[in-house]
Amino acid sequence: MANCVACHARDGRGGVLPEGSPVDEDGEPILREPARDALFSSFVQELGDEGRLPPTLDGVGDKCRPEFLQEVLTEGGRDRQQTMATRMPAWEPGLASEIASLLALDPKTDRPLPALDGFSAAEVTEQGRHLSGSRTLGCIKCHSFAGEKGQSLGVIDMTRFPQRLRHEWFLAYVEDPQRFRPGTRMPASWPMGVSFYPDILDGTAAAQIESIWRYVSSENPRPPIGAGANTIELLATDRPVIYRNFIEGAGPRAIGVGYPERANIAWDAENFRLALAWRNAFIDAGRHWTGRGSGWQPPLGDGVIAADAAAAVAVLPALTAAWPADPPRSRGGRFLGYELDAEGRPTFSWSGDGLTVREAIAASAAGSQPQVSRAVRVRGDAEGLVVLRAARGATIDDIGDGWWRVDDRWNVRLSGEALTRPAVLSVDDAMELRATVRHRRGSESLFLEEISWDTPGSN
Ligand code: HEC
Ligand code: HEC
Repeated sequence: MANCVACHARDGRGGVLPEGSPVDEDGEPILREPARDALFSSFVQELGDEGRLPPTLDGVGDKCRPEFLQEVLTEGGRDRQQTMATRMPAWEPGLASEIASLLALDPKTDRPLPALDGFSAAEVTEQGRHLSGSRTLGCIKCHSFAGEKGQSLGVIDMTRFPQRLRHEWFLAYVEDPQRFRPGTRMPASWPMGVSFYPDILDGTAAAQIESIWRYVSSENPRPPIGAGANTIELLATDRPVIYRNFIEGAGPRAIGVGYPERANIAWDAENFRLALAWRNAFIDAGRHWTGRGSGWQPPLGDGVIAADAAAAVAVLPALTAAWPADPPRSRGGRFLGYELDAEGRPTFSWSGDGLTVREAIAASAAGSQPQVSRAVRVRGDAEGLVVLRAARGATIDDIGDGWWRVDDRWNVRLSGEALTRPAVLSVDDAMELRATVRHRRGSESLFLEEISWDTPGSN
């Protein structure tokens, strides 16, 4: 017989609960059988019994997805190996299926799944990441993330939640852990259902908890701030900081720049493009600096946008012609390096198609809202029409005052005598914002591009 109760409690028996209902000499119920209790140990003393005793099976069919019950019974458990010395045995598939279907009959916690209408998918997952990080609710101070224990206690990996848990149970549990697990070390991060962060999403606990679920359910979620060991956050205090390394999304020859105004960019010196822009925290140099080694470092902050899909300036036969598929480098173009101005801000220079292009990239903070600006100088004697592509996205909307909103995530504004009025074109399956550069052979054309995140005027 499968002696599940040797390890687990369910319905008031099993695990370390003594047989019968014994009482001590004062008539208090005895809740532990000491001989059995002594068999269970933990690697993480801070977790107390939770790190030590196999989980209760009360309500386990409410908590766990049927697929996971099947998995844990046929393959054994693997989610608590950082904390618990005892192992869940694997069972023969026939028996496992039978028990899994019986456990799955447990009554289910139900609740509506928040729709989060009016928030883009990107914003929702971004806020979920923000809430999980060490600057806010700090889930990763206890939980592992994407296989990395980091400095956490090594409690169940957050990216395993969607495989393990029923969605409705997750929402109810995170709001009130004590209700499901009396005595747990996990705090109620929304005490009495109230959020510490009324400005995030619609300010409700339900929406914010849902955002964490969607974040950990998304494909390859970027780890939250504070996850991982040896975090070395590069901070620009009075001058920009430059970071040259493998930056995820910006290629192997990325040049990352973090500005004191809390805006950051990564310029791709392979393909001559402003590959990424983001705001708030710059980058975690820990991976590359501590021998945790190689690999791609994602931006640390939020609002990550892929600004240019390719070099932003090209010579075309017509404004509407297809953007060159090959990078300028493969057509004889060259990266001419970058120089820093007196304030330490870089200007990136490159040549291609008979042009020399210089992109001076700076940041500013309008109120508390960081912005990026790019002053572009084009010189040369190209044959044909010199065109700027300022954005490519699924949607590009005119939001007034010269601003265009891209994918409902970021805004771009163009100015300067050297540009014609921008036009939105439909190219392949995407929209593109383009303008013609009024270019005279031998002279220099200068124009300005501004990038911001929040809708101008909102705060
Ligand atoms: C030798 C002790 C032991 C026995 C016997 C045992 N389990 Fe487990 N079980 C564990 C441990 C330890 C875990 C936690 C594994 C992990 O997450 O790494 C676990 C996890 C589980 C889980 C997942 C619960 C959760 O919240 O993650 C289920 C379901 C489960 N066991 C059911 C059973 C059933 C049903 C039986 C009997 C057929 C059984 N176990 C027998 C030790 C045991
Ligand atoms: C102080 C430590 C601590 C913090 C902070 C913490 N948790 Fe937990 N959490 C735990 C412990 C301990 C468990 C129980 C682990 C077990 O069953 O082995 C747990 C369990 C969970 C579970 C059930 C996991 C499963 O698969 O069985 C979820 C979901 C969860 N936590 C979400 C969160 C979220 C979301 C946050 C941040 C808002 C958070 N936790 C913050 C300690 C913490």
